[in-house]
Amino acid sequence: MSPQSSFTRRDGGEYAYTIEATKLKFGVGAIGEIGADAKALGMTRVALYTDPRVAKLEHVANAARSLRDAGLDAEIYDQVEVEPTDRSFLAGAEFARAGKFDGFVSVGGGSVMDTAKASNLYATYPADLLTYVNLPIGKAQPVSGPLMPHIACPTTFGTASECTGMAIFDMLEMEMKTGIAHRELRPSLGILDPASLTSLPPLVVAANAFDVFSHAIESLTAKPYTERPAPETPALRPMYQGANPYSEIACSEAIRLIAANIERAMQTPDDLSAREPLMFAGMLAGIGFGNSGCHVPHAMSYAVAGLVHDYHPEGWPDDHAMVPHGISVIVNAPAVYRLIGPSAAASHLRAAEAMGADIRNISDARAGEVLAERVIGLMRATGVPNGLAELGYGDADIDALTNRTLPQKRLLDIAPRDISRGDLGQLFKDSMQYW
Ligand SMILES: [Fe+2]
Repeated sequence: MSPQSSFTRRDGGEYAYTIEATKLKFGVGAIGEIGADAKALGMTRVALYTDPRVAKLEHVANAARSLRDAGLDAEIYDQVEVEPTDRSFLAGAEFARAGKFDGFVSVGGGSVMDTAKASNLYATYPADLLTYVNLPIGKAQPVSGPLMPHIACPTTFGTASECTGMAIFDMLEMEMKTGIAHRELRPSLGILDPASLTSLPPLVVAANAFDVFSHAIESLTAKPYTERPAPETPALRPMYQGANPYSEIACSEAIRLIAANIERAMQTPDDLSAREPLMFAGMLAGIGFGNSGCHVPHAMSYAVAGLVHDYHPEGWPDDHAMVPHGISVIVNAPAVYRLIGPSAAASHLRAAEAMGADIRNISDARAGEVLAERVIGLMRATGVPNGLAELGYGDADIDALTNRTLPQKRLLDIAPRDISRGDLGQLFKDSMQYW
């Protein structure tokens, strides 16, 4: 069977896909090599980005020591906001500009890595914030050349920010999440050290694992790349190309690893044999979705996180209401699979099979339902919220949630079928409660 067998080429349709990935280093203790890695990338004066909580953990001290041992000048910026905003991106960029650095290191979660990417961008090519921000909020101007080298060291797993050219933030005035997406934002190197996962509380592990899981399922079930028209020039080929043979293999394995390890990883914080596969799955899915793209559950998640009423999950800072990213995604996912499953039955069944389902004799009409049932089973087993109602949402919120999701066109367009305003309203309704 040819690797292209599930992708049918059409006249005038896309005929090629690109796999772009950050160079990655993976292993317990790998963060101790960051000084040598930074030197090899030509860094001499390094801005080390982190947030106030991670700044107190040993990973930041280890990274700073390794940089200094290699003879590099390193300055720590520990003011990154978790869930960054236009304000915190600008503050990070100002630090980068004033410090005249020639390299960046980020140690932390997605917020830290994204802030370092944006700071690197605006320090290298100064411009108004909106210049590079995605349409329709910003002008989405392409980045005109390479940025300074950046080594990203995730201390969680799941965001896969170390693998992607994305930097997500909240536009405060509009109360909306948006981002900057360009391949030049991809870090030069990602260092994934599973030792950093031992400090994560169980619900944080679950939320991150469900984020990886959703990246993988959405990439697998995305519109095939062959269904886009061929670009006029290779440079116009989008970063999110749709499902492709590479993402199909990487994402199927990521789904299998998460389903097999998530419960044990929550129960045994010091047992790296369960947490290490989750970080590896995050890397696989990160490369997969970084090239294929996510769709509806992620598009809906930004509204779910942005309109939060009064939800305070256990394991996160309690100073403000928030819906952690992985939870804001997974609560929509089963409803989405039920709706779109019949339009992409083979890929939904492939995802269900990776979770251990027997997919023999399942009709196309039931493919989404079979996957949804598996995902709901895993949600129940891991104690994540039972849909939007448990996060404090009700039917009165559906219009606002829908209005905030419609502008996420870049994501909605990768779904395997058209998604209308009416569909979104029904999806939010169906996501209220699952059991
Ligand atoms: Fe995500």
